[in-house]
Amino acid sequence: MITRETVDKFRDLPTPFYYYDLDVLNPTCQKVEKESRYSGYRIHYALKANPNPRILNIISGYGFGADCVSWNEIERAMSCGFKPSDIVFAGVGKTDMDITKALNAEILCFNCESVPEMEVIDSIAGNMGKIATIALRINPYIEAYTHKYITTGIEESKFGINTWELDDVLKKLTVLENVRLKGIHFHIGSQITRMSVFKSLCARINELLDWFLSHNIDLEIVNVGGGLGIDYENPDQPAPFEDYFSMIHEFINIRPEQNIHIEPGRSIVGQCGSLISRVLFVKNGSNTVFAIIDAGMTDLIRPALYQAHHKIENLTSAGNLFRYDVVGPVCESSDTFGKFIELPETRRGDIIAIRSAGAYGESMASRYNLRDLPAVIFSDEI
Ligand code: LLP
Repeated sequence: MITRETVDKFRDLPTPFYYYDLDVLNPTCQKVEKESRYSGYRIHYALKANPNPRILNIISGYGFGADCVSWNEIERAMSCGFKPSDIVFAGVGKTDMDITKALNAEILCFNCESVPEMEVIDSIAGNMGKIATIALRINPYIEAYTHKYITTGIEESKFGINTWELDDVLKKLTVLENVRLKGIHFHIGSQITRMSVFKSLCARINELLDWFLSHNIDLEIVNVGGGLGIDYENPDQPAPFEDYFSMIHEFINIRPEQNIHIEPGRSIVGQCGSLISRVLFVKNGSNTVFAIIDAGMTDLIRPALYQAHHKIENLTSAGNLFRYDVVGPVCESSDTFGKFIELPETRRGDIIAIRSAGAYGESMASRYNLRDLPAVIFSDEI
């Protein structure tokens, strides 16, 4: 919670900065840990959502594994307490160097997205005298009803292996001696808020599990990916973990020797972070009043890139309500956090919070315009 006291402390700090509230992160992790314990499902936190070392140390402390998409992420995860045997490696374009390093580190599993990738992993593993454990990322052709840039499981998506290729993949696997198939993997998109989408995924997974069984292939791991959305309108609301876990439990038919893996990113870290900024100028347009703040799209690119909505709050004014376009200083019109937003009368120096910014905020920050990367402050540091 951002209390009056917290705001008073913000007044003395240079902006912009990410503020991470550990009294939100810890209870969220506790919820997930509890669900994981009851269900027996293994959690692999998707590092790309937020690889801040302090956040990773907290998350690894709950015993979760990690879902990584580059060797740098794997290295970061290991240095923050995740065991290599709890790390999976995803991504359509793994480099030879990354594959080699991941094999050396003896990670749990490569989530393979194509036959050429399987061949390269096989050849590198062969040269190193190792066996690589792999899961096949399969494209289940399910519409996720989210932004098109973060939809990943529909036809002609670059992600995953097509189901019509599976016969050939199995043939290929019989000749690849240095890879061992252990599971199947899915990820249909991010910020999914309709539970029915996950229900469709479960049905598709059941069909595929039957298909593998009918081909006498024993799969140990069923990885359903991430994607559980958060409520950007209600930043104090945690993600609906109970509904999500009980839905998977109800709709996926696994055999006792099979394990379900889940890769949540946003749902774990999204609500613990706010981007804190200061109003530089309030400027009149013809029909609009602009509140120009010192945070920009370089600090939080989601509104510019996905037209994403983040709740914006003026923490230091309680005046009458007016409408503002809240914009950043970067030389792009897309550097807009919200249009025609209702805020209490806003003046130069007011402190603005852009909420639900814990996921894909700091991790996607850039130095465009040679701006500094945003600073980071944790709730127990002020
Ligand atoms: N597993 C895989 C294979 C993924 O590709 C992703 C996210 C996740 C797990 C975690 O998904 P989550 O639970 O966070 O939805 N930058 C975008 C989101 C990109 C998501 C990419 N993949 C955004 O700001 O909305």
